[in-house]
Amino acid sequence: MLTDQHDRRISYLRLAVTDRCNLRCTYCMPEKMQFLGRASLLTFEEISRLVRLLAAEGIERVRITGGEPFLRKDLLSLLEIIAAHCEVAVTTNGVLTAPFVPALRKMGVKKVNLSLDTLHAERFQRITRRDGFAAVMNTLQTLLEHEMEVKINMVVMNGVNTDELHAFTELTRQNLLSVRFIEEMPFNGQGNGFSGIEWHYRRILSHIGEKFELQKRQDAPGSTALSYRIPGHAGNIGVIPAFSRTFCGTCNRLRVTPTGGVKTCLYGHDAMNVRDLMRDGFSDGSLISAIRSAIAGKHADGFSAERANARKMLESMSAIGG
Ligand code: GTP
Ligand code: 5AD
Ligand code: SF4
Repeated sequence: MLTDQHDRRISYLRLAVTDRCNLRCTYCMPEKMQFLGRASLLTFEEISRLVRLLAAEGIERVRITGGEPFLRKDLLSLLEIIAAHCEVAVTTNGVLTAPFVPALRKMGVKKVNLSLDTLHAERFQRITRRDGFAAVMNTLQTLLEHEMEVKINMVVMNGVNTDELHAFTELTRQNLLSVRFIEEMPFNGQGNGFSGIEWHYRRILSHIGEKFELQKRQDAPGSTALSYRIPGHAGNIGVIPAFSRTFCGTCNRLRVTPTGGVKTCLYGHDAMNVRDLMRDGFSDGSLISAIRSAIAGKHADGFSAERANARKMLESMSAIGG
């Protein structure tokens, strides 16, 4: 079992399989991105080995993030290997995802979080600096047709999409899905342009509450979202106070970046690098010992320790994995 010094059991791995993306969301990365060379990414074999070892140590759930995971050619084989060890969920932008949905379903990967910040094609182009709206909407449709557990991630941006909070909530009336409204975090890789927390989660809830009756649901332990049901709606909504609240007390997460960096906190530095150790010939036992030591050093409250750090804006979410 992987446990830190504050008695938090680490059972959830966020694994970013690439930093590359086919979109350029303004809150995540600049237009001109310098992506990593292929040789610096964890290989198929390295990821498989890491997951096998971590699953034996009590990691029960793996969320695959990026960048955009479906840009990796070996993604389906990777998912298949990982799904043999633990529950697998994927976070995707949905541009390339639709054709893979039947295969995901078949291998038991049912949980897909879809990034979608607007329901207007032209606005999608402005936010992501790319086309792809029709493909993403097709992915959403396909996911629902295959009865996948879908959560839409909508990053709330002041004056950009705040007029769509009600329309996104309306999606939950007929569709069995969850829409999560996310406070913007200062990870846009540009060093500027973060408007701060003008849409605090309480403001988001109060705005939605003007039109819909929100009833609090019980949240799973360690959940990032505060979730609500709406009478008569098939789905539900949630808010993720990603910037204004700390999840540290119940944090059960370990993060691995595309280059093998191990982060014990979203806001912290890489505590170690598993790729380097594997390429240096470390045995399974030595690798796990090193990961255990990194976890032991996990901050009680990394959020407060690191949040105000402006340096973070120079980092893109795609290099961390969210
Ligand atoms: P579930 O596994 O479905 O609960 O997904 P999730 O909400 O953990 O993951 P997802 O990849 O959908 O991310 C949703 C949002 O939560 C993104 O903006 C993430 O960056 C943010 N997020 C995920 N983990 C953390 C965390 O530990 N702290 C903070 N502040 N935000 C997080
Ligand atoms: N603030 C909040 N959420 C973000 N994401 C990417 N960048 C940011 C940011 N700066 C979200 C994406 C994706 C998830 C993994 O992280 O929308 O759904
Ligand atoms: Fe790509 Fe996701 Fe970043 Fe958008 S938020 S640029 S879809 S990695």
